[in-house]
Amino acid sequence: MTEDDRLGRDWIVARMNSLGMSVVVDRIGNIFGVRPGLDPQLAPVMTGSHIDTVRSGGAYDGNLGVLAGLEVVATLDEAGIQTARSLVVAVFTNEEGARFAPDMMGSLVYVGGMDLDQALQTRAIDGEVLGQALQAIGYAGDAPLGLFRPDAFVELHIEQGPVLDMEGVKIGVVQNLQGISWQRVVIIGQSNHAGTTPMHLRHDSGYAASAIACFVRELARDMGGDQVATVGKVDLTPNLVNVIASRAELTVDLRNTDEALLKQAEVRLAEFLYKLSESEGVSIDSTSLARFEPVQFDTALADRIARHATLLGLSNRPMTSGAGHDAQMLARICPTAMIFVPSVKGISHNPAEFTEPDDLVAGANVLLATLYELAQRGN
Ligand code: GLV
Ligand code: MN
Ligand code: MN
Repeated sequence: MTEDDRLGRDWIVARMNSLGMSVVVDRIGNIFGVRPGLDPQLAPVMTGSHIDTVRSGGAYDGNLGVLAGLEVVATLDEAGIQTARSLVVAVFTNEEGARFAPDMMGSLVYVGGMDLDQALQTRAIDGEVLGQALQAIGYAGDAPLGLFRPDAFVELHIEQGPVLDMEGVKIGVVQNLQGISWQRVVIIGQSNHAGTTPMHLRHDSGYAASAIACFVRELARDMGGDQVATVGKVDLTPNLVNVIASRAELTVDLRNTDEALLKQAEVRLAEFLYKLSESEGVSIDSTSLARFEPVQFDTALADRIARHATLLGLSNRPMTSGAGHDAQMLARICPTAMIFVPSVKGISHNPAEFTEPDDLVAGANVLLATLYELAQRGN
């Protein structure tokens, strides 16, 4: 919802228009390009992803799924094919959630998992209000939420992890996606002189923030398996060399494929925060910014993707997604699955993010074959 986001959205809308698609923008700013099918009675097949990015992101995360969706439409146009079902290419608002939590917000609101007004009132980490930001870039649309009830949703995305690249496999067929727990932790201690305050008299918010970062690393190591844990953002006040920090605000990102284990990680963190507040004499408050249970994708749809990859001569393997995706929200309303392509060295949320052009094309071809087959089905 920045000026750059507007430029990206404008580019996509122009491309949809030039492909003869009708364009719909809903009340949370999701954009849908529609390519009509032969039978308006049949539910459409939907694909898409997001074009927003974390501030330090790369070019492929999200964009691949949207641009490949448009390329599928262009390819069908060139071949003179009109499918039985309509094809809808979706661009979901605020998938990243790094500025306005939670992540996958546009798709979450679309499927009825979050109240629209609550979403529009969300405040960014820089203070801006989401609804106003959406107005300012001209994408506060008027289409109702959940306008299309898809027959199926398929999202193509870069893996954002190292597995496909390391194994030399071309296509990941995503079976499931891990649960996500984001918390904001605010610590209030006492600001004091760094030189004169004896160590045992400190109520040091900076120290407490660092202790939390060390604890979650240790927690993930101790739990093992799929547990991951990150402190990605820390703000200290007053943030000066010779002043004990009075206030710290940090984020914790916990993820696991197993809901019971994710809950266990949350409980262990809460216990640690309690003990830390006692031992350091600081107050610690934590608020949930996002909480999503692990998601199982549709097995038949995943099998269909694997079959098309194999038919195209592309090596493929089942995968779990470590990242959150709009597909996990669409899975609440229709059969959903995802296609992954390799990320070189597994680098993502980093400007160095890269996928070989041939791998982008391979992923887009699997998307094309899968969408075409889905869109030709009757009821
Ligand atoms: C969002 O895309 C996330 O996985 O953090
Ligand atoms: Mn993404
Ligand atoms: Mn991302």
